[in-house]
Amino acid sequence: MKSYKIALIKGDGIGPEIVDEAVKVLDAVASCSGFNFTYEDLLMGGCAYDITGDPLPQETITKSLQSDAVLFGAIGGEKWDNLPREKRPESGLLRFRKELGVYANLRPAVVYDELANASSLKPEVVRGVDLMVVRELIGGIYFGEPKGRDEERGWNTMVYSREEIKRIAHQAFQIAMNRSKRVCSIDKANVLDVSQLWRETVEEVAKEYPEVELTHMYVDNAAMQLIRDPKQFDVMLTGNIFGDILSDEASMLSGSIGLLPSASVGAKIGVYEPIHGSAPDIAGQGIANPIATIASASMMLRFALGENEAADKIDNAIKKALSEGYRTQDLAQFDAKEICSTSEMGSIIANYIER
Ligand code: IPM
Ligand code: MG
Repeated sequence: MKSYKIALIKGDGIGPEIVDEAVKVLDAVASCSGFNFTYEDLLMGGCAYDITGDPLPQETITKSLQSDAVLFGAIGGEKWDNLPREKRPESGLLRFRKELGVYANLRPAVVYDELANASSLKPEVVRGVDLMVVRELIGGIYFGEPKGRDEERGWNTMVYSREEIKRIAHQAFQIAMNRSKRVCSIDKANVLDVSQLWRETVEEVAKEYPEVELTHMYVDNAAMQLIRDPKQFDVMLTGNIFGDILSDEASMLSGSIGLLPSASVGAKIGVYEPIHGSAPDIAGQGIANPIATIASASMMLRFALGENEAADKIDNAIKKALSEGYRTQDLAQFDAKEICSTSEMGSIIANYIER
């Protein structure tokens, strides 16, 4: 039997609870698809710091690279906020992305029909939204040099090389080829030199994809257009920080940040994770929504393992759970027939798969 080795990084806060549900669902889909999974728990984030003094132990990098894919929960929490920057959970995550070379962060924002009225926007504005933010993840202002601070000043540098822009642009165009063949590239070319290079390079790459329609939009306008008329977008191609901001904004179209998955891919191994954080305020209460992580497991099956049928099974089971009116707390006021806990939601989805 085919067996896949999955690195599990549960992390902090609600991370362990939601990853456990994704594992439950993965095992359910494996049992009716003729393959199986072996898992290895690895440490990252605050929990890793507490045990080893380092938010990203070397072992986590090494073993992740030896696996077929990484499924990741979330990291961080107030408890670690006052540590020096390089010891903080977020630094561990940034270094992890860099070490694994996952330069492309894919963040779909899909509005489930059943939840069109869960968004803070009007249902007619969001119903049918299906877009994908393709965010550059290991460059830009997050990593640029020089950076630093003294008593009176702090500074970071937004820098992109032509090569970095090219490879993320190729990702975006390739993804667009399997979707509606439209890419909107986001920049601030009216102000930033780095954005002028970005725009010029994306134009160049676009020539290799004549079927794809390319448009450009300034990031401030994009933030507005996402709220005004999100259905105009298919693939949104962004640099690191613009994508960080716009993908949080896009996630709200769907009503709950607890629904949306993401994939971070590159030349080596992929990391699959919900786009939400570790929500320490609700950790351990069994009320977190596991759907974003379960949907991330589905992206893992599709993108890392090529198990498209199994991924479809998970996606359909999620839709079924929502259309039958099962809701976790975060979505309780939206046509809920039954409120369920984190682990009940996992079991409901797993059961739909097995049936
Ligand atoms: C994200 C997060 C991270 C980021 C933080 C936790 C470093 O906001 O994955 O979007 O800014 O990339
Ligand atoms: Mg973010």
